[in-house]
Amino acid sequence: MRSLRTGLSLASLLAGAALVCTAPAAHAADPPLRDLAAAKGKVVGTAVTGSKLTGTYGDLAGAQFSSLTPGNAMKWGSVEPTRGGFDWTEADKIVAFAQAHGQQVRGHTLVWHSQNPSWLTNGSWTPAQLGSLLQNHISTEVGRYKGKIAAWDVVNEPFNDDGTYRADLWYDGLGSGYIANALTWAHAADPDAKLYINDYNVEGVDAKSTALYNLVKSLKQQGVPIDGVGLQAHLILGQVPSTLQQNIQRFADLGVDVAITELDVRMALPADSGKLAQQAADFRSVVAACVAVTRCVNLTVWGFADSDSWVPSTFPGYGAATPYDENYAPKPAYRGIAEALGGTTTTPPPPTGACTAAYSVSSQWDSGFTGQVRISCSGASLASWKVSWTYGAGQRVTQAWNATCAQSGAAVSCSNASYNGAVPDGGSVTFGFNASWSGGNPVPTVTLG
Ligand code: XIL
Repeated sequence: MRSLRTGLSLASLLAGAALVCTAPAAHAADPPLRDLAAAKGKVVGTAVTGSKLTGTYGDLAGAQFSSLTPGNAMKWGSVEPTRGGFDWTEADKIVAFAQAHGQQVRGHTLVWHSQNPSWLTNGSWTPAQLGSLLQNHISTEVGRYKGKIAAWDVVNEPFNDDGTYRADLWYDGLGSGYIANALTWAHAADPDAKLYINDYNVEGVDAKSTALYNLVKSLKQQGVPIDGVGLQAHLILGQVPSTLQQNIQRFADLGVDVAITELDVRMALPADSGKLAQQAADFRSVVAACVAVTRCVNLTVWGFADSDSWVPSTFPGYGAATPYDENYAPKPAYRGIAEALGGTTTTPPPPTGACTAAYSVSSQWDSGFTGQVRISCSGASLASWKVSWTYGAGQRVTQAWNATCAQSGAAVSCSNASYNGAVPDGGSVTFGFNASWSGGNPVPTVTLG
């Protein structure tokens, strides 16, 4: 055996290279949120930024959610920044992404007091001019996406917290009738889209949600096309309204759908484990309230990751409001959502016993090395085994003993020989191999299983 030709001691190589990988019987990953939601007859969505829909952000948006809401891309100021100068780039991108991933799109939003283009807000319009601008805007935008939008937040934030109408461009210019007109025009442009009025601070039963309730009731009585109400649910840690489910139910009883459209739960920064646990409970109870009412059809978070949330810039000192952290790792809040949608309620218990694989280099020379992998069991046993790893620096296995090894590209996989598959509790099996290297020979992470 060619060993220790470089003069390195076996002990130092082992010390530097030994790496233990625990490979307990892996528990199956939970299904994505969209599958859990589907099993409950719900759609689960997120607000998205079109330019970010690649890489990890795109992977998660596509895999976890069954509905996308453009966070800004469909607002008037985004689609018509100059009069008659339209830019649909980001909105189109989000719609195409959703279609490619079998997702619904919630259109957001057509009539709002905010994020309007300055040519509109700075203009001076007669009521007739303003009405026709609004009608054109709605016909153009809803018409462009006809058949592609499951639901539109037609009117956004029409009320003050005391339940009176918000005095904005629309109310001041057109009176409260702008709401019925907007719904009617949207319905004409896409009769299949569900049409919503969306607002914040309407999650619990209070003056504002009651004003919304009375408006929806009267619109229905007049035969105005109204299909649902959106409860934005921009919540503060520990402050989920106790009447949330009751409120959802009263709208359902009125004959409209309900969507939680912009859920986030902000906390004073920095986050800590206690706050994150409370946040998980808050997300869980909001989702549970929606699950409990059949007509609560869509549950959307306003950005799924803390790095894509509007909270830090809007509420200074607050943040960490979404189910994934800044690096796209799921937070306890993610589990809160999953659990309320029927996902597993407990983290799998740590294995009582485990088998592990340890990789080491026992000798190395200028172009090659000899390595070994020891598979050991304690409190567990194996009847057969397979170990795999990926070489990061072009190493190639040339020969193996006491195992059958195959390498494809950088991926190496070794399984037991006919005579050494069994690893008893408290025992171990070792196999060896020769391999080539040049430039570097970093120790790979080994997976057993
Ligand atoms: C927010 C966006 O997330 C931000 O990026 C933007 O700067 C401001 O608007 N209620 C709504 C959403 O209906 O459109 C708002 O979105 C958040 C509050």
